[in-house]
Amino acid sequence: MATRPLGRNDFGDPKNAGNLMSIEEAHAILNEWVPNDRLRLHMKQVAAVMKAWAIEKESADEQTALKWELAGLLHDADWEKYPDEHCRIIIEELERRNIDPDVIHCIASHGPDHFGVEPVSKMDKMIYAIDELSGFIHAASLIRPTGYEGLEVKSILKKLKTPSFAAR
Ligand SMILES: [Fe+2]
Repeated sequence: MATRPLGRNDFGDPKNAGNLMSIEEAHAILNEWVPNDRLRLHMKQVAAVMKAWAIEKESADEQTALKWELAGLLHDADWEKYPDEHCRIIIEELERRNIDPDVIHCIASHGPDHFGVEPVSKMDKMIYAIDELSGFIHAASLIRPTGYEGLEVKSILKKLKTPSFAAR
């Protein structure tokens, strides 16, 4: 992945705070921009965990949970078609659509080493963690004959403590 730093730290317009899109609209972007099933699945997985975390751990209301879910769902939207410009293209698209700056900053900070934007809010920090965790859980599912079927939390926790697996 030949990503480039975004070269800025301000995203979106503060006037647009609270301005979201429906989850259906976000899925439409995903379906149009991301032909790869595996990548779409990853983004849906990150979105589902972001939403669940917001509701269960942050006591988020419906709007806030949607914000977390949207960031998760769209964070890699441009990765497949524009690998060299990831995530500049989706950021600019969301700015054009006047989306809440929190969602855009969250996406911009999901790979600080790649995009040069540090996570600031709790949502920023959680997408970073959940993005990595989603990859880890998927890797764990791939080495099981039944995949995700019957995969338990305790088995993931055990693998996290196994340096040889965690390093892969
Ligand atoms: Fe990702």
